[in-house]
Amino acid sequence: MAQAFQVRRLGQTFFAEVTGFDLARPLDEPTFARIKRVHLEHGVVVFRDQHLTAEQHIGFSARFGPLQVHPMSQFNLEGTPQILLVSNDRHPDGRPVGIADAGRYWHTDMSYLQEPALGSMLYARAVPAEGGDTMFCDMTAACRDLPPAMRQKLMRLRAVHHFASRWAREQEKSGMRPAQTREEQDRNPPVEHPMIRTHPETGEPALYAGGFAVRVAGMAEEESQALLDWVEKWVTQPKFVYRHHWRLHDLVFWDNRRVMHHATVYPEQQRRHMHRTTVRGNAPFLDPQYLARELSSTP
Ligand code: SIN
Repeated sequence: MAQAFQVRRLGQTFFAEVTGFDLARPLDEPTFARIKRVHLEHGVVVFRDQHLTAEQHIGFSARFGPLQVHPMSQFNLEGTPQILLVSNDRHPDGRPVGIADAGRYWHTDMSYLQEPALGSMLYARAVPAEGGDTMFCDMTAACRDLPPAMRQKLMRLRAVHHFASRWAREQEKSGMRPAQTREEQDRNPPVEHPMIRTHPETGEPALYAGGFAVRVAGMAEEESQALLDWVEKWVTQPKFVYRHHWRLHDLVFWDNRRVMHHATVYPEQQRRHMHRTTVRGNAPFLDPQYLARELSSTP
């Protein structure tokens, strides 16, 4: 049975709220097609008041494509590795259940893979009374507004993304994570992606960089870092950012091909427990026709 639901834009250029929709119910094709359109249009969607088992969460996620398993397997839900635990809970012996400080930097999920995540679904099972918001930025709007000379420059460049470098940095910063074993470090070697990518479904160009990007390919260290910093500053201008304050039982589904996100801190003594799935996407590419058109226009 089709479900009638309401959609309300919350951000300036992206991010919508969906109410009156129950993800636990069977989803027919026309309703699924509508949900997909809403997601593509708004880039990030929060589904309010969801009551889902792990299997239902996985089932809905898998409608969009094959699921990815997070490489730090000790933080995946036991028996259900498609779910990553983003949580400050602890096992009885004191070991962390999940990654408590996951994503506290701007990034797009799994950009360190050849085929990074299409989208992620983060489901709030316990939220703190204060803090723990997630910020999102619209990389399509940010790309559209780029100074033309910078767009032309970025279109020709590729960035190197590396999981272990980021993990080591976060581990040093907070001391909340275990160090990676050599095997874990070697599991995901560096990969290169274009710094502007074409969205495979909307055809829109979007900036693509973020916290797993360690350098710009073929560029000297200092210049490379300055450029990555410039991009981050550009895309996180307030006009491109929406900050989501979590309610219990929100499920937020974001399009990693269009947005970056950044988790924020909360009081350690309060509980935050989230389940995350990620759907595999395509290898990022830049449409050659767009490239040729842009390069032929005067900067
Ligand atoms: C993540 O980067 O997936 C975690 C986001 C969050 O916990 O808000």
